[in-house]
Amino acid sequence: MMNINSALPAAPSVRPKASLRRFAWDLDLSQDELVQLLELTAALKRSPASYARALEGRYLSLLFEKPSLRTRLTFELAIKQLGGDAVFSNGLIAEREPLKDVARNLERWTHGIVARVFSQQTIEELARWSSVPVINALSDLYHPCQALADVFTLKEHFGQLRGLKLAFVGDGNNVAHSLMLTAPRLGVDLAVATPPGYAPNPEIAAVAAGLAAASGTSLTVTSEPAEALRGADAVYTDVWTSMGFEDQAEERRRVFQPYQVNQRLMEMAPGAVFLHCLPAKRGAEVTDEVIESPRSLVFEQAENRLHTQKALLLMMLD
Ligand code: CP
Ligand code: NVA
Repeated sequence: MMNINSALPAAPSVRPKASLRRFAWDLDLSQDELVQLLELTAALKRSPASYARALEGRYLSLLFEKPSLRTRLTFELAIKQLGGDAVFSNGLIAEREPLKDVARNLERWTHGIVARVFSQQTIEELARWSSVPVINALSDLYHPCQALADVFTLKEHFGQLRGLKLAFVGDGNNVAHSLMLTAPRLGVDLAVATPPGYAPNPEIAAVAAGLAAASGTSLTVTSEPAEALRGADAVYTDVWTSMGFEDQAEERRRVFQPYQVNQRLMEMAPGAVFLHCLPAKRGAEVTDEVIESPRSLVFEQAENRLHTQKALLLMMLD
């Protein structure tokens, strides 16, 4: 769309040229862009005031089909702290009109679309029909914005990513998929332990295996938490029942019990930090003792959602 602010002073030179048109899944960000994003995030976090007008006059559409605390608020704050603003709409995106019409309305008013959806297909359709960038704020298959904050948090904590081992214990869900598509490209060994029948999507796992092979890291998918935890520097879990799967909650509570991240499990990875995307169900996938322990980085992750998304917006919005 036309830049309505061409008369305003130029944005600071620290702003990179926007080139990314969609972040529908993790691999829309190339390896170089991923590295660039982490560097830009560090600069943004160090010196937020330098970027206070970088996206002046830019507006985001936030379309959320599911609840959110972190994603919604960090996108709103990110765009506002960069000098822009956001409008929000909740409910099923295509309830009243086709997605292709929604996309062609939003591109006339705003400079980017951030959507949290039930089906990945909705993101793909929005991206197909919109001339402005589209960002996946969580779908049934991916949570790519979360993975960015997670790897940034690990880098911040350990100083470097290459050579680290991350163990994900729980459901082979959207959060697991995005970690599988992101961590190997940064040199992180990844092991995912899920109950049988809840393994990651095999097509996504095959892509992730290719990425791991290309970057010389190991990717393990197992049903044994002990195998995943051996030598881990970080242990990650997420809810057993994701949004949209509530009708399976009872069965999942039973099946996932041996995968609870508790003190006994954490002892299998001495010294490892604990990660969770939040919201957490204490007493289910994680105990209160673990999430409240000094090893827990969950609020660092939550804070870093803001900084990584600022970097993403700078790389995407014209
Ligand atoms: N981690 C995360 O995406 O949190 P919300 O569901 O609150 O956005
Ligand atoms: N896997 C969870 C993540 C929530 C941030 C869900 O999709 O509900």
